[in-house]
Amino acid sequence: MISQEELKAAQDKFNKIIEEQLTRIDAMKSEGDFIDYSKKDHIEIGVVGGDGIGPFITKEAQRVLEFLLKKDIESNRVTIRNIDGLTIENRAACHKAIPDDVLAELKECDVILKGPTTTPRKGDKWPNIESANVAMRKELDLFANLRPVKIPEEGVDWTFFRENTEGGYAVGSEGVNVNDDLAIDFTVTTQPGSERIIRAAFDYAQKSGKKKVTVVTKANVIKTTDGKFLDTAKEIAKEYPDVEMDDWYIDIMTAKLVDPKRRQQFKVVVLPNLYGDIITDEAAELQGGVGTAGSANIGKKHAMFEAIHGSAPRMVDEGRAQYADPSSIVKAAGMLLDYIGYTEEAEKLSKALQICSEYEKKVVLTGRSDGGTGEEFANYLMETLSRDDLEEYYSSFNK
Ligand code: IPM
Ligand code: MG
Repeated sequence: MISQEELKAAQDKFNKIIEEQLTRIDAMKSEGDFIDYSKKDHIEIGVVGGDGIGPFITKEAQRVLEFLLKKDIESNRVTIRNIDGLTIENRAACHKAIPDDVLAELKECDVILKGPTTTPRKGDKWPNIESANVAMRKELDLFANLRPVKIPEEGVDWTFFRENTEGGYAVGSEGVNVNDDLAIDFTVTTQPGSERIIRAAFDYAQKSGKKKVTVVTKANVIKTTDGKFLDTAKEIAKEYPDVEMDDWYIDIMTAKLVDPKRRQQFKVVVLPNLYGDIITDEAAELQGGVGTAGSANIGKKHAMFEAIHGSAPRMVDEGRAQYADPSSIVKAAGMLLDYIGYTEEAEKLSKALQICSEYEKKVVLTGRSDGGTGEEFANYLMETLSRDDLEEYYSSFNK
């Protein structure tokens, strides 16, 4: 049996969620367009180390950024600002997913490079505060999570557009324990929220010439929210007659990604938050491990770039943090460069990374003392970037 008070408390919580989401919808409806950073006189890049191996790998990615942007940093077109305080210790002390002063600093930056942050979960030693990732995506309204994955030898070239602010994550920490027997979480899909991510995916498909968008849901079962996402996609597809659209359910999509005969047919994939979370880990693993993929979180006003893996506290506890592989966050730094208009530098970085980690492999990272350190790898990467014959050298591996 449920008491009247318990019922009323649950209903009040639900009312509050509806009101919050309606306010969010109003804000989305009045938001402007994406900023074109290549036209800005000054760009501020915030760098946040995060937890665990985060500060170790982020430091290396920052050195690579400083190397590639040397001239523009000297001329003050670009400033790099280090932002402290997004550590789990400080977040726990403030009892906030992002402490207020840290959030204010983040908002002052145009773009952010962020190391992994520890996400507290029920039962561990930290207070059960919301994930800093999720909070940052919501606070800065970083609604499009772009995760590219490539397996060149198979012709696989996927770009996932994961919705980043809605679904099971929108009110992920506001579920209701109605009474001891009944727990309810909520999943949220809004019309403007679906439109903007789906349109971003179609725009990208058109501009990149990939010309095919796969929409992934479970709309046969989750009929209301996933149904809205899929219906919205079908409507938007009509605006892009030269981009093909197909739709898959998440279960069979997950299976098809491990089918080498079928998987190269996918190009641009757009999907709600939780499915995107799961399937991009799977995809990254197929590419060579979650440590190899970068991730861009894009909004209309801000953008944040991060590794897709976690903070690996065990590596720190075992004294191995210096051996952590910075490739994923370096890739994220490459996406950042591309996003703010340094396309050539991003291209060079991507080639140098491939030379260092796939072809030449003079420094191999194992995560242990039998391999190189992240610092050695970054030095090797910068030496490779300095080669006058980088283009030809890269091509020589691709004949
Ligand atoms: C990711 C991560 C996050 C997520 C966690 C750390 C909250 O898994 O970026 O994919 O679930 O979004
Ligand atoms: Mg994830």
